[in-house]
Formats: sequence, C-alpha cells, structure tokens
Amino acid sequence: MAEAYPATIGGQPVLILKEGTQRTRGKDAQRGNIMAAKVLAETIKTSLGPRGMDKMLVASFGDVTITNDGATILKEMDIQHPAAKMMAEVAKTQDDEVGDGTSSAVILAGELVSKAEELINKDIHPTIIVDGYRRAQEKALQVLSDIAVKVDPKDKETLRKVAAISMATKLVSESRDMLADIAVDAMLQVSQKTTEGFKADVEDVKVEKKPGESLAETKLIQGVVLDKEVVHSGMPKRVEEAKIALVNAALEVEKTEFDAKINIQNPEEMKAFLDEEEKMLRDMADKVAKSGANVLVCQKGIDDLTQHFLAKKNILAIRRASEKDMEKLSRATGAKIVMNLDDLRSEDLGYAKVVEERKIGDDKMTFVEGCKSPHAVAILIRGGTQRYIDEAERSLHDALCVIRDVIRDPRIVAGGGAVEVEIASQLKRWAQSLSGKEQLAVIAFADAVEGIPLTLAENAGLDPLDIIVDLRARHEKGQKWTGVDALEGKIKDMMKDNVIEPAAVKEQILKSASEAASMLLKIDDIIASGKGQAPPGGPMPPGGGEGGSEFD
Ligand SMILES: Nc1ncnc2c1ncn2[C@@H]1O[C@H](COP(=O)(O)OP(=O)(O)O)[C@@H](O)[C@H]1O
Ligand SMILES: [Mg+2]
Repeated sequence: MAEAYPATIGGQPVLILKEGTQRTRGKDAQRGNIMAAKVLAETIKTSLGPRGMDKMLVASFGDVTITNDGATILKEMDIQHPAAKMMAEVAKTQDDEVGDGTSSAVILAGELVSKAEELINKDIHPTIIVDGYRRAQEKALQVLSDIAVKVDPKDKETLRKVAAISMATKLVSESRDMLADIAVDAMLQVSQKTTEGFKADVEDVKVEKKPGESLAETKLIQGVVLDKEVVHSGMPKRVEEAKIALVNAALEVEKTEFDAKINIQNPEEMKAFLDEEEKMLRDMADKVAKSGANVLVCQKGIDDLTQHFLAKKNILAIRRASEKDMEKLSRATGAKIVMNLDDLRSEDLGYAKVVEERKIGDDKMTFVEGCKSPHAVAILIRGGTQRYIDEAERSLHDALCVIRDVIRDPRIVAGGGAVEVEIASQLKRWAQSLSGKEQLAVIAFADAVEGIPLTLAENAGLDPLDIIVDLRARHEKGQKWTGVDALEGKIKDMMKDNVIEPAAVKEQILKSASEAASMLLKIDDIIASGKGQAPPGGPMPPGGGEGGSEFD
C-alpha cells in the first residue's frame, strides 16, 4: 500500500499516480472511514437534547466558543480525516436547509454507518446495505409524512411552541418563552403570502447583539438597527420624519494612486488650492442637503470637513455601513442606493419615522424605526458576556429557522424520540415483508433511527435499554407520540407535552444522514495525493495509512 498503482507490463512497473500518493483500499479504507464517522458522532452525542452538555472549543489562537449546536461544534473543530469532514458536511447541509437538527443528523449518520459495520462483518456487501438503506429511507419518509400533523402556518401558539422547543436544548433555555415570542413576532412580520403558500426568509430578520444588561432585555425592534454611531458630534442624534439618502460613494477628495506634484509658487496659489478642496467637500454636503435628505447613510468614508458641513445643515450621517446594511435599509425605507452623489434626487430618498442614536452598553447604535416597509424588523440581543450572547444568537437562529420551516411547510411531529421510535417500529414491521439481506439492512436502518431516543435517554441519565423497550411496547399499542421526557426522566405523550418540532427538520435529518452514510459506505479506495508526507486528510486512523494490511 501507499505505493502508486503497482501495475506491471513485461516486468516493468507502470506508475500511474504521482510519487508520494497515499492509497488505502478495500476493507482498510472502509474501516478507517467507519471509525472516523463513529468517533465524530460519538463526540456530538453528549450534546443532544435538553439534558445535553455544552462543548468548549478553543481555537488555535485561544478564542473560546461555548456551544451545543452540532453545526457550530463541527465548524470550529479542526477536522482532518476526510470521512470525518463528510460528517461535518452533514451538519452544514442540515443547518443550511432547515436550521435545526444538526446534532441529530450527525448522530443518525454515525449510527447508520456503525450498524452497517456490523452487517459488513457478517459478510454482507456494502452495496446491498446501501440499497437496503435507500429503500428504508424512502419508507421512513413515507411514514413520517403519514403521521405528521397539519397545522395553521399563522397560528402563533403553535409557532411559539416549536420555537421554544428548539431552544429548550440550549443554554438560553430559561428564557425560551420570551425569546420564542420575539422570534415568532419577527418571523410573522417578514413572512408573505404567495401563490404557493407562505414565504419567509430568516435573513430578513436582522439580529444584532451587544453585551451588557441581561438576556431579558433582548428586544424586537420595528425597523433596522445599525451597529454604527453618528459620525460628528455636532449632528442631531435624533431625526423625526427622516428622509434617508443611501450613498455608495466616498464623500472625500480622492487621493490619487500616483504621487502627484503640485507646483505652488506663492501663498495665493496655496490658498486657492486649499479653497478648491474645501469647496469640493462643501459641495458634497450641499448635494445631500439639496436632495432634501436629513439622514445620510454612506457605505464609504466621509471627510471630516464634509461631516462638519453636514452637521451645519442638521443632517445626521453614518459612514462605512456594510453592504448588507445598505440593502436592508433600502428594502426597509424604500430608498435607492445611489452610486454617484450627483445622481441623488428626492425620489431616491427613503422614509422612516425616527432615526436615532442610542447608547447601548458601552457603545452607540443607530435605530431606524417606523420604516416605510412593514416587513422591516430586527432583534437586539443583550446579555452578560460576549460568549453568552454569541450562543444566544445561535439559539435564536435555530428558533427563527424552525418557525420559518413551519411557515413554509406547516406540518409538525412530536419530539423526545417519539417520531423516531414510531418510524423504527413501522420500518421493522415492514421489513418482515422483505427478503433476506435487504431485510437485515432495513432493520439496521430502524435500529440506527432508534439511536436518537437512546441518546436522549442516556443524556438524561436514564437507562437507555429500559426506556427503548418500554417505548417500543407503547408504540406497538398505537401510542405513536410516546417519547422520553428528558427533563422529568419519564415516558410521556410528547405531543400533549408540547414537545413539537417541524416535520421538515426530521425529514431533512433522514435525508442528509442516509445520504452521507451511503456515500461513505460505498468508498473502497482512498487515493490521497501527497507531497511525500502525510496525506492531506491527515493521518489515517488505525487500519488505514501506511503499513496497513493489504486487502484483495
Ligand atoms: N423536553 C424534552 N424532552 C425530551 N427530548 C426533548 C425535549 N426537548 C427537546 N427534545 C429533543 O431534543 C432533540 C434536539 O436536541 P438538540 O440538542 O437541539 O439537537 P439538534 O442539533 O439535533 O437539534 C430533539 O430530538 C428533540 O425532540
Ligand atoms: Mg435543536
């Protein structure tokens, strides 16, 4: 192994791959990958559910992140093994598609791979397992859609419950009801009815955070918040009936790229030169004022002198706003972003009832409230420390996502492992109708799905086996929403207990996990081009890498 293609023609070796290429084949490759996937899933397991623990991640230069969000953990971890990287991508896909269920997706992928390993050890070929998994996944999705409960996408109460449950597993769990209220109001405000149902975009809710005060001071803002202060002390700090100009051009005299020499012969010329510069800067302020604007938000810089002239005209100005903020302001206030100050007309101005700079903690922020568009909302997160509000932001993001998920696809299921046990039970029943090895693969898939309730029980300090046996029995009796209440350590009807989640999240967990597991199981050859040193994927776990045994 570790040699390039060892083919020979007439005794002469034929080298197909570059020297230094690392190659791991057959069972070695499989074992290495399975091991890596299992290790990664194992790491995430302890963070699942309301009793899950948090992880403290320390970056190479000392930055500390405290989180229990699967996607964040895997993003911050410096993962080397290529198969482990695939697992991390599961979390990312899950996060991008539905925003919650990232830990579950990674755990399920790990379980699928680990159950497959048992079958491989019984000499069942990976291709057969992958086929069986595919059929099992289709059936699981069908069961899911059969049992999912339709809800009204505008029903605040349902949305609030879903949001609260997504945060029940987080550090901010104590304040989840208050945060859920804010998140629901924000999402409903940005959602719009279209011909194909409701549409809502999490990006439309602007989330800002400032350390200080407490999480209880987190507020919904009807408008846009800019993490910027007014540029000049002489400017008004509050403008009512604001007419807002958005300019993406520097309000400065441009410095030339080249060294220019100006020949000045006498003091008069010097004065003329400076006067000219001053006039240009004054003109800029005049142009803004002439358009009728009383608020200016500039994406580039504003010269000190121009600031002074703007202040004299009672114009509130902000500089170096981000492109995102400019776009958000444009949508919120109806202003057009102007690239050249000469083009600024009164029609281009946007409107807001109030623009005001306020002191938040040690900083100043600018609030644009009562905007032309009713869809403009922001959330300002407060809380003791930076790390705490960072995690609060991540949790709020999950909440906004699940609300959006239900608005888009108004179906819910019960959590706490209830939906997983039901899917597993029905899969196992269905497996009886299948033949031989395929049946084994489907049962393995069902066992993997049960990994979620098992993990929830384990993290709650319960005996996972007792719980799963009990759960299976109840589901056999038709109690399809029975799950494990990790907080009280009891088996319960989770639907009645309001532990509800979007069907879309569970659907995506099944999809992304089985996709990744199948992809991984079908690999029987890892070819890593190297520079004569370790493969770019880093050292392989035992069974792979240099000196491993040959397989064929
Ligand atoms: N009170 C509860 N009792 C039991 N399980 C719960 C409870 N609240 C939430 N859960 C479960 O916790 C799991 C989600 O945990 P979480 O740590 O947020 O991971 P993920 O990243 O997968 O969303 C879901 O299966 C959900 O049903
Ligand atoms: Mg979650």
